[in-house]
Amino acid sequence: MAAREIVPGVFAVGAIDWDRRIFDELIPLPDGTTYNSYLVRGSEKTALIDTVDPTKTAELMGNLDQLGVDAIDYIVSNHAEQDHSGSIPAMLDRFPGAELVTNQKCRDFLVDLLGIPQDRVTVIGDGDTLSLGDRTLEFIIAPWVHWPETMLTYLREDRVLFPCDLFGSHYATSSLYVPDEGVIYESAKRYYAEIMMPFRSSIKAHLAKLATRQIDVIAPSHGPVYDRPALITDAYRDWTGDAVKNMVVLPFVSMHGSTGAMVDHFVDALMQRGIQVQPFNLTKTDTGDLAKALVDAATVVIGSPTVIFGPHPQVVYAAYLANLLRPKTRYATVIGSYGWGGKTVDTVKDMLGRLKVEFLEPVYVRGYPKEEDFAALDRLADEIRKKHEEAGIVPS
Ligand code: FEO
Repeated sequence: MAAREIVPGVFAVGAIDWDRRIFDELIPLPDGTTYNSYLVRGSEKTALIDTVDPTKTAELMGNLDQLGVDAIDYIVSNHAEQDHSGSIPAMLDRFPGAELVTNQKCRDFLVDLLGIPQDRVTVIGDGDTLSLGDRTLEFIIAPWVHWPETMLTYLREDRVLFPCDLFGSHYATSSLYVPDEGVIYESAKRYYAEIMMPFRSSIKAHLAKLATRQIDVIAPSHGPVYDRPALITDAYRDWTGDAVKNMVVLPFVSMHGSTGAMVDHFVDALMQRGIQVQPFNLTKTDTGDLAKALVDAATVVIGSPTVIFGPHPQVVYAAYLANLLRPKTRYATVIGSYGWGGKTVDTVKDMLGRLKVEFLEPVYVRGYPKEEDFAALDRLADEIRKKHEEAGIVPS
C-alpha cells in the first residue's frame, strides 16, 4: 500500500493483504484485509499508531522511507494482537530513540508475546494525553474490543479517531476512504459478528463514551477509513442495541433428506407467516455469512440429523461458534430426524448455554417426516410468529 495523506500531516502507512483468506485460522476472509498503521507528524514529535502484521513489515518500512521518515518519537500500541503489534520489534530496532506508548495491560501482553523490553515502554492511563507539539493524542482505555487490553487513540486537533480493531472491516481495497457505503456496511457487519459481537455490552459503553467527542474521521486498523463516521457508529449502535429483527436463522445439515425435507417445509411455513428466514446448509455455507446473520435475528432454529447418538459434527461446530459469539437472539429450538435414538436435542441445547434464549418446543422425529411431523413444524412456525408479535418485532 502506498503511503497516503488522510489530513495534512497524518498518513496511512500500512499494508494491504489481498490474498489472505483466513484469520486466526478461524475467520474466512473472502475479501482479504488490510493492516493499517498511521503516522502523525506534530510540530515537535512524530508518532506511529499501531504497526502491521509481521508478514508485511517491509511494506511499512517502505512507506516510512517513501515519506522520508528518519525518526519516530512514539509508537502507540492500541492492541497487542500480532496483526497490529507484530512489526513493533522491527520498528523499535529501526528507531532506537522511539518510546513504545501503551496501557499497562497491553504492555504486559507485548512483553509476553513479543519479548519487548520493558524499558522501552511508557505506560499511560485513561484520558492521558501525549503532546506532539501542535497536535495532541488522547488515550481512551476501551477494554474488550476484543481483547482485555484494547484502547483507542484520539487526535484532538484534527478530530481523528484511531480505534484499532473497533469499527474495522476485513476488506482489501486500494481506496483510502470507504469506496461504497453499502459494501463496507456489509463487510463491517460480518467483521462485527465474527470479532466484536461477544463483547456487545462493553462496546455499547464505549460508544456512549465516544458520543461526547466530535469525530470527523475514523481510521481503523482494518479496511478503509471512514470520512463519514456516522456510517459505522450508527451501524454499531444498531448492532449492539437490544432490538432484534423478525428473522429466523436456520443452520442445518441433512444426510439422507429427512432433515432436509423438514427444513424445506419449515422455510415455506415461516415465509407464509411473514417471517424472514435465512437457511444455511452447513456443508456449503461460509461461517462468516452465518455469523453475520446471527447479529440481529430474533430466532435460531438448528436442523440436525442424529449421527450415532448426537448431532452432526457440522452442527456441533455451528452451535459451538454461536455459543462463543453470543448473539442477542431471543428464541431457539431444534428440528431434525433420528434413526434409532440419541440425545441430539439435549446436546444442542446444552451447547447454547451462553445464549439468553427461551427454548421453544423442538420438532424431532423418527425417520422421514410424516404428515403429523409437518403439522408440528407448522405449529412451531405459528409459535415463532406469536413470540415475535408478543415481543413487538413483527412489522405491521
Ligand atoms: Fe486486528 Fe485483534 O487484531
